[in-house]
Amino acid sequence: MKETLINKAKEVLEANFQDGGFTIPSQGLYPFQWKWDSGFIAIGLSYYNIENAKLEVKTLLDAQWENGFIPHIVFHNENDTYFPGADFHKSELHPLSSKRYKSTGMTQPPVMGFVLKEMYRIAEDKEAMLEFIQDHIDKVYHNHVYFYANRDPHNEGLVYIYHNWESGTDNSPVWDDIWKTMNPPEYTFERKDTTHVDASQRPSKREYDHYLHIIEIAKEHQYNDGKIAELSPFLVQDPLFNAMLIKSNEALLELYELIGGNGAKKLFLTQWQKRSIEAFNNKLFNEELGAYVHYDLRNERQICHVSSSSFSPLFANIPNQERAKILVKTMLEKFGGEDKYLCASFDPTNNRFNPRKYWRGPVWINMNWMLYYGLKNYGFTDVAERIKKDSIELIERDGFFEYFDCRKDNGEPLRTGYGGDNFSWSAALLIDLLNN
Ligand code: SER
Repeated sequence: MKETLINKAKEVLEANFQDGGFTIPSQGLYPFQWKWDSGFIAIGLSYYNIENAKLEVKTLLDAQWENGFIPHIVFHNENDTYFPGADFHKSELHPLSSKRYKSTGMTQPPVMGFVLKEMYRIAEDKEAMLEFIQDHIDKVYHNHVYFYANRDPHNEGLVYIYHNWESGTDNSPVWDDIWKTMNPPEYTFERKDTTHVDASQRPSKREYDHYLHIIEIAKEHQYNDGKIAELSPFLVQDPLFNAMLIKSNEALLELYELIGGNGAKKLFLTQWQKRSIEAFNNKLFNEELGAYVHYDLRNERQICHVSSSSFSPLFANIPNQERAKILVKTMLEKFGGEDKYLCASFDPTNNRFNPRKYWRGPVWINMNWMLYYGLKNYGFTDVAERIKKDSIELIERDGFFEYFDCRKDNGEPLRTGYGGDNFSWSAALLIDLLNN
């Protein structure tokens, strides 16, 4: 059974691998290279095709801008089945954008630090892998320097995102609170996502108006970070994004230690790491909810909802043991009923919860993967094992989809997963989970 699943996962990854040296997340829906997808994909590839894993990372890092920024989508080809594409995003507006690759002018969670460390853990030839890491780690470091220099206006150690697509949790109900503060124009455009996937599983037209409007504002200012910090209606300190930055800081420190030297870089990372963890615990924890939450930096207030991002700090060693216990209690009380698979992407007890819709409730394998390692690390072995078992069962039951219904019985006679099919990170991370 395990072997069959692993073989199917490899088939998914092989079919999604492209000549340009990268893997698309899913055919049809996502025809380019996505930043955090590539990171998770490289972890799975490391088990059986280390050269492609390296290539995946190398190709993404090749598209880095001169200021250290790494874009969320790299448009390697002219595919017109995706909206909004390169012509809409116009990364060339930024004076330091890549001259070689068209991309978006927004980023995605900073996964590459911990991805390099995972690749090192998995690689059989440690020496060759360390050599590869040595050749690429400075780009990742440069990316972290970019974040602290440009995305943290108060120098508090928490970086902002200026678009919901930067969060990775694109359509989370958390953003509804921000949409209430905006009134974007009604744009005319042709959606492509709903030609690939049932519209009931994707964001609404009005939500896309918000998404496009934020990009238009950033474009008016050539994607200048200072201007975005000043003017973007969406300016959020996201717990998932910051947890991944912190996790990657820790990984970079460990890898530089292995490489030797690099004293100034280690000092920079150590200082910011301390500041980041402190600010994270002080600013993003909500005692009443017993969970970490998002902070709306534009309107200076916490956004008081629990989502799977609320538990991601477990992955990055951010809470102390006592707080970790509170997080697990909240997770089990709100998300962990016997009738549910762990872990819904949004609080099932909240009236904004929707078990079918993009990031508004379904289970995502990348979140489960992070939670599995986080819970294990804090000694919550039973819950960790449950998350792992649920992830495997969902893929076996529903297929290699992008997201999954968290209800064990959803009343549908022919149960299936949602979003993109043959989804690369579901396959890649399943390979890792099954090898553990
Ligand atoms: N995943 C987003 C989309 O739905 C963009 O990153 O198009």
